[in-house]
Order: sequence, then structure tokens, then C-alpha cells
Amino acid sequence: MVTGVSRGLGTHICHSLKAAGYRVLGAGLASSPGNDALDDYQIVDLRKPVAADLFASEDIDVLVNNAGVYLDDPRRGYGDVLSLSIDDLRDTFEVNLFGSAQLVLRYAPRMIARSSGRIVCVSSGMGRLQDADGASFAYRSSKLAINSLVLSVARHFGEATGELSAFSYCPRWIRTDMGTESAPHAPEPAAADLVRLLEFPAGQSNGRFFRGLRELGWDTQGPFVGG
Ligand SMILES: NC(=O)c1ccc[n+]([C@@H]2O[C@H](COP(=O)([O-])OP(=O)(O)OC[C@H]3O[C@@H](n4cnc5c(N)ncnc54)[C@H](OP(=O)(O)O)[C@@H]3O)[C@@H](O)[C@H]2O)c1
Repeated sequence: MVTGVSRGLGTHICHSLKAAGYRVLGAGLASSPGNDALDDYQIVDLRKPVAADLFASEDIDVLVNNAGVYLDDPRRGYGDVLSLSIDDLRDTFEVNLFGSAQLVLRYAPRMIARSSGRIVCVSSGMGRLQDADGASFAYRSSKLAINSLVLSVARHFGEATGELSAFSYCPRWIRTDMGTESAPHAPEPAAADLVRLLEFPAGQSNGRFFRGLRELGWDTQGPFVGG
């Protein structure tokens, strides 16, 4: 199950999953996502509680929390942290943290019960504390928070028996509506790498933060290392 499948990275994640043989369930805001890789789709606004009957008859093997917003984007004229609107901070967290968290909290216990599952949260290098630059506080802190959730779930997965993995994934700066046409990277390889990571043995991905196929790490000492 993938969130945010109508455009951007989510579209390509669905296509990569389909090509790898998965049955692909999508959820998002769009009334008609226009994504031919989807086997099923439900309209979901992640700012609201997700209905209990969302794909209720399905066993979710893989949850990809991909949907996200970047409301305080300086490239679109947003000021720095001192001009942040609290409403924008709240709205950012509604999608990027609470929206994702409610799905993680729904599916992680079921995965533990089945001793099998993968949870991926599409995060960003901007969610690392060391990279804070005085702007984009809402976006950065929402990604920092989702990284913390991933680590917390990964601790439980690591203690449970079975093939369980929760990890964060940074797709790099990619050409999507959010990333803009100026981004140096295409979304297709980012989606393909995410799907390859799903095939790693759980012990090689659980509790990690990847950028592409390489470990980015939650934080490092010293200056930012780009890539
Ligand atoms: N682009 C980059 O350079 C970049 C870099 C690092 C990380 N990321 C992360 O990668 C993920 C995908 O980003 P993207 O670049 O593909 O962004 P995008 O092109 O702006 O697409 C965002 C997706 O999120 C969905 N969405 C937004 N609000 C929603 C809500 N309230 N409920 C349900 N779905 C909602 C949108 O659905 P609708 O189309 O239906 O509105 C859309 O499918 C995000 O988590 C982002 O933070 C992106």
C-alpha cells in the first residue's frame, strides 16, 4: 500500500512495485489518480482519521508512506523560521507525521503478528538535525519526527521474530511538483531503489535511513555530506 500515488514519486513507486510483481494498493487525495499500476485505489485525506475499513480485507505486506507536503518552501517565496505560520506548521504535521503515523500504528502490530512486513517512510535528508539551515522548519521537523517514529517501530520489529523491517528513505532532490523542474535527479531511479531495498533481508534495512541504496544515517558529526 502506497500513499500519494497520483503524481510525483508515488506514481513511480507504484510502477516499480508492479514491475516487481506486487499487488499495488494506492491511497491519496486525488479523486482519480490516473495511475495504471494500481490494482485498487481509495481516496484518503491524510489530514483526517483514516477510516477503519480502508483496505480492511487486505493483508498489507508493505506500507510506503510517500505522501507529503512542503508548505514552507523558500523556493516558493516562504520566509525563514521567524515568519513561519503556526497553521502551516500544523498542516505540515497533519500530513507528514500524523497521516503517516496513523497508518504505521495500524499496520505495524499486524505485521508483528504475522512475523512479516516492511514499513518505509519517505523522508528527506532535510530531516536530519545537522542540516537545519534556519528555513523550512515545518518540513524539516516533520521529517525529523517521522524518522524518530521509524526508529521507534524498528526497535519493536528488531525484538519481534520474523522478517520485519521499518526504514526511512530519502529519494534525493528529484523532479516532481515538490522538487521542481530544477531538481538534478529523475524520480524513476529513486522509486526503483526504494523497491530494491524492500527485497533486502530485514536485518539489513531495519532501523536504517537510506538515500538511494546507500545508508545516509540519521545524523552525523560535522558538515553536511551531500549526494
Ligand atoms: N521531490 C523531492 O525532491 C523530494 C526530496 C526529498 C523527499 N521527498 C519526499 O518524497 C515524497 C513524495 O514527494 P513528491 O516530490 O512526489 O511530492 P509531490 O509531487 O508534491 O506529490 C505529493 C503527493 O502527496 C499527496 N498528498 C499531499 N497531501 C495529501 C493528503 N492530505 N492526503 C493524501 N495524500 C496527500 C499528493 O496527492 P494529490 O496528488 O492527490 O494531491 C501527491 O500524490 C514526500 O514525502 C516528500 O517529502 C521529496
